[in-house]
Amino acid sequence: MDYIQRQTGKENPLILGIESSCDETAAAVIRGRELLSNEIISSASTQAIYGGVVPEIASRVHVIAIDEVVERALSRAGVKKEELDAVAVTYGAGLLGSLLVGLSFAKSFAYTLKIPLLAVNHVRGHLAAAYLDDETLKPPFVSLLASGGHTAVLFTKTETEFELLGSTLDDAAGEAFDKCARVLGLPYPGGPNIERLAKEGTPCIPFPKMCKGSEMRFSYSGLKTAVINYCHTKEQKGEAVPKADVAASFQSAALDVLVEKTVQAALQKGVSAVTAGGGVVANGYLREKLAAACQKAGLKLVLPEKKYCTDNAAMIASEGRIQYQAGNFSPLSVNARAAIPLR
Ligand SMILES: Nc1ncnc2c1ncn2[C@@H]1O[C@H](COP(=O)(O)OP(=O)(O)OP(=O)(O)O)[C@@H](O)[C@H]1O
Ligand SMILES: [Mg+2]
Repeated sequence: MDYIQRQTGKENPLILGIESSCDETAAAVIRGRELLSNEIISSASTQAIYGGVVPEIASRVHVIAIDEVVERALSRAGVKKEELDAVAVTYGAGLLGSLLVGLSFAKSFAYTLKIPLLAVNHVRGHLAAAYLDDETLKPPFVSLLASGGHTAVLFTKTETEFELLGSTLDDAAGEAFDKCARVLGLPYPGGPNIERLAKEGTPCIPFPKMCKGSEMRFSYSGLKTAVINYCHTKEQKGEAVPKADVAASFQSAALDVLVEKTVQAALQKGVSAVTAGGGVVANGYLREKLAAACQKAGLKLVLPEKKYCTDNAAMIASEGRIQYQAGNFSPLSVNARAAIPLR
């Protein structure tokens, strides 16, 4: 890391964050914990034609979009690239071809400007989004992570250390939303479409709430199978599937258990605050239920705005700030990783 010529150890570093792990090309600028800009170019509408993310299409869109998205983030922030103190970038987990576009761009940016490169774990980024929402937020706290690939409850001890309290035994919550949407004939991405349809129905179908007890674990494959079986049985009988009721019943079965276990973990750990991150946390029903449960339990809840729950670069810059302050700079030889275990 001999190439670094910028003073490090600043209290409020100016950091450019870059995210390209899936179908969003995103860039953001933060100063300390203050968000100055957040830009995103998404290939989701193209991907929707195929019913999911096609990796080759995602990579190609990143290549086309990355220059523009970074330029927009710098100009909206009113920052010249020469003023940056570091570049934070997602190095995993995600689609390799997509990750490599953001990572290569960030490496060349860091090398040319002679500033540190901060390689960020995407999931740690989701958890760090809360720090931007509330600049006074400090560990210890308990976090709910619910995204397309992860479902877990974690105990954040310090900004750099966390303990995994429990996670899913099979599918992730977001994955379950996407699969249920497919069964109901709703387009990709499934989560927001299920949420929209659920508003027109009632949660009257008794789908199983998996792993309801006190153990800190989740399971979604049984719920998914229950939804598929319910719809197939209706079709076999020649009856109409009450899609809105299925969506509402699935949504409450999938999310109520997340709320219960997050609050339970916070009380067990004796913390006074709860945070959440990941695409599923954009769900209005989950946000309302979690807010009500935290209020009842006397817990402070810090929820990132919806646009900072789904993939974005602000959260990568936020985790980058933590790595910067820990002096955890990455060598330019760092490679992209398709999978990184949560712990
Ligand atoms: N309003 C919503 N309600 C429920 N689920 C939602 C909502 N909005 C997005 N999601 C779900 O969130 C997931 C996307 O979240 P995110 O972008 O963080 O996932 P990912 O980046 O693919 O996975 P990971 O972050 O675990 O690597 C999708 O499964 C999507 O259906
Ligand atoms: Mg994500």
